[in-house]
Amino acid sequence: MADNIDNLLTETRRFPPAPEFTAQAVATTELVSSAADDRLAFWAEQSRSLLTWQKPFTEVLDWSNPPFAKWFADGRLNVAYNCLDRHVEQGNGERVALHWEGEPGDTRSFTYSELTAEVKKAANVLLSLGVREGDRVVIYLPMIPEAVISMLAVARIGAVHSVVFGGFSAESLRARIDDASATLVITADGGWRKGSVSALKPAVDEALEVSEHGTTTVAKVLVVQRGHNEVEWQADRDVWWHEAMAGAAEEHVAEAFEAEHPLFILYTSGTTGKPKGILHTSGGYLTGASYSHRNVFDLHPETDVYWSTADIGWITGHTYVVYGPLANGATQVIYEGTPDSPEPGRWWDLIEKYRVTLFYAAPTAIRGFMKAGREIPNRRDLSSLRLVGSVGEPINPEAWIWYRDVIGHGDVPVVDTWWQTETGSIMISALPGLTTLKPGSAQVPLPGIAVDVVDDQGAPVGNGEGGLLVITEPWPSMLRGIWGDPDRYIETYWSKFGRTVYFAGDGARKDEDGDIWLLGRVDDVMNVSGHRLSTAEIESALVSHPIVAEAAVVGAADETTGQRVVAFVILRTSQVDTMSTEDAVAALRGHVQHEIGAIAKPHTIFLVQELPKTRSGKIMRRLLRDVAEGRDIGDTTTLADTSVMQIIHAQVG
Ligand code: WTA
Repeated sequence: MADNIDNLLTETRRFPPAPEFTAQAVATTELVSSAADDRLAFWAEQSRSLLTWQKPFTEVLDWSNPPFAKWFADGRLNVAYNCLDRHVEQGNGERVALHWEGEPGDTRSFTYSELTAEVKKAANVLLSLGVREGDRVVIYLPMIPEAVISMLAVARIGAVHSVVFGGFSAESLRARIDDASATLVITADGGWRKGSVSALKPAVDEALEVSEHGTTTVAKVLVVQRGHNEVEWQADRDVWWHEAMAGAAEEHVAEAFEAEHPLFILYTSGTTGKPKGILHTSGGYLTGASYSHRNVFDLHPETDVYWSTADIGWITGHTYVVYGPLANGATQVIYEGTPDSPEPGRWWDLIEKYRVTLFYAAPTAIRGFMKAGREIPNRRDLSSLRLVGSVGEPINPEAWIWYRDVIGHGDVPVVDTWWQTETGSIMISALPGLTTLKPGSAQVPLPGIAVDVVDDQGAPVGNGEGGLLVITEPWPSMLRGIWGDPDRYIETYWSKFGRTVYFAGDGARKDEDGDIWLLGRVDDVMNVSGHRLSTAEIESALVSHPIVAEAAVVGAADETTGQRVVAFVILRTSQVDTMSTEDAVAALRGHVQHEIGAIAKPHTIFLVQELPKTRSGKIMRRLLRDVAEGRDIGDTTTLADTSVMQIIHAQVG
């Protein structure tokens, strides 16, 4: 982190907004001042103007029992209606909602009228399969239009979706199905990835076969035909999506639900081995999604073509592929495959083809393209772009500059957006048209959001100082809890500095102007290619393998992916001589992939004889990180056995 701070301190480039951009910008100084005048009145006004409430709310916030917030509690609305029907009713039914492109180059597009019709039918399918208000539906799909349609259909009938990223293993899927007692799974035979079909349904079959309790709560599996790969079929359980849709009634009237009605659960990694089911509700979440999407991306829905490259398996795919853009009536691109398939310029081809104006991606991808060279994007016409955004991890100034120069032809605003699964929507970002940009800094809280950087005691640090990032006032799209675990909710986020201060788990620094620079996680959460991974979760996957006695996992700095997973493993004595190092390492990498998913597979595994521990038995990850990053070992005086580090160093070379 120290290197990081030094680099940032020397970053002095500044980019004031272009006057032409400011003249047409959605976010204005009035927006900023009205939020500053009266925060709650501001949120009420945003919610009323951005959303259609079937029963208007009169209460804005109930914070009488922190950290359990209620926003707009006496209002009622339907989230899917807000994303679909109302645009059609307002005369925008012919506007394209989705331009979808499959990896092999096949395409489909949906106007708002068409998407509304599909979601109505899908809602009727869900009802005919027995799904009712409040039931949990797991969605395990590739990036195909049915993913968006499924999420909205679930929301439309007041059920709760839990989207599981298609790259997660059967084990991870099962844990999520069980934790939420889901009754339906929506999946596909397979989807296209890197030039071939990657099967999905077998993972669902496996997850349902061996449920923890010996039985499963899942009654039906709805299967989209996408890969046309062969799948096993259980006639009493499995239903083809296309057959069910063909027979579904076309009309479905969206019923309004309470503002605090649960909308979705999304699992994310924390500091313990078990992923947390982050719960979001309806009215506040949709307010935050719509508001931030409009203002941060400067959305002009009549003319813009927006593209977020995020998968729906992550929060960015929820808020900035599904709910924000669709609530705002935007036209957007979604793409099924990988950025480099069939060749490394695929993303830039899509920007050229669809004349994308607003683009949102992760720094890892940008750094990957930087490495591949500017010739690739330079061969495409990217002149349609007028704003680019970054999310998921700190973007280093050099990548920021490259993003602006090479992708954004040197003249578009770059918005670096800080937020989390838990915050539901963007909390810190420049406002294009208003903010003078600083490469590498997320800069300022959005109007209506109150963040600070504090020291260990919770006292705000001064400008020029670093500390822990906190959010000091509740906000509409905040998480409402951890599914089934209110104690963990309080303990994780609302106990370090009291019940009304949200502890984000990120380190940050205020610069001389008070702008915020994010410095990475302060807990045992890693960020690999913008994906959150828990060291504890990977450690417990490793020790569940019979050859492992003990394991410690750290995130080591990586130029492209931000961090990479490095594991230190002690084998059981009985195994040490029977297996070659290569075989053991290969077996363990495969095991982590099987237990969690390919994204969690350690980049490097060191087989060692000891792990550095404090006298109280805690593994000193800091020292392991030094080794993993090839640094000299720091202070080892608190180690129980100070020779351990020399031994490890000698072993890993
Ligand atoms: C990190 C992703 C620096 C941060 C939306 C946070 C960032 C975690 C940024 C949340 C950014 C996200 N600059 N760090 N612009 N955006 N992060 O839940 O550590 O997948 O706590 O949400 O990503 O990851 P999550």
